[in-house]
Amino acid sequence: MKRGLFLSFEGGEGSGKSLQARGLADALTERGRDVVLTREPGGTAAGERIRDILLHAREIPLSPEAQVLLFSSARAQLVREVIHPALEAGKIVIADRFFDSTVVYQGHAHGVSLQAIREVTALAVGTLVPDRTFLLDLPVEVGLARSGWAAEARWDRFEADATDFHVRVRDAYLRLAAAEPRRFVVIAADRDEAVIAKDIRREVDALLGAPA
Ligand code: TMP
Repeated sequence: MKRGLFLSFEGGEGSGKSLQARGLADALTERGRDVVLTREPGGTAAGERIRDILLHAREIPLSPEAQVLLFSSARAQLVREVIHPALEAGKIVIADRFFDSTVVYQGHAHGVSLQAIREVTALAVGTLVPDRTFLLDLPVEVGLARSGWAAEARWDRFEADATDFHVRVRDAYLRLAAAEPRRFVVIAADRDEAVIAKDIRREVDALLGAPA
């Protein structure tokens, strides 16, 4: 079976990962590659509805365990409806967040059992693992200031947490990256956008066997 390339982007608030994921998708598309860009939670009709409950419905209480199951439901649908068909067609899939987000946010930062998350994730995605995961890393204060986190008008369930939550998120991401150095590429995100994009492109070009 012909298989494409699966890339994911991870990072905390204000890391610029969505911008970089989109920029990479545009750059590869311009070069004639078939690219599918997805975001989590979302990326399918069911996933976008689930995203609304998870991120924007302030009146709906959700335990971290319920969050795991909702994120994983959206992911299960995304994998079957979008990611697998695209990879089987030889396309490049760029995912703006994937299962590492659940391990980090609900697992390490909210304290849900990591073993339970592993089991639910196995049901949601099977054995699918990104070929490369770009972790856009930057100091928490910089990320929160960039994302305008303190503004009440920007409330969402996850951005409303205290700063030490975001510190746990950053530390957990760095630990995951250290544990899987072949999959993770840690990108210092406290730099010029164009420089970051160039670093990412160099890695992807190497994977594609194209000149940088
Ligand atoms: P984003 O649009 O910045 O990627 O925001 C999505 C939010 O959802 C972010 O605060 C992280 C959170 N999230 C989780 O807590 N667990 C998950 O599994 C995913 C995919 C996202």
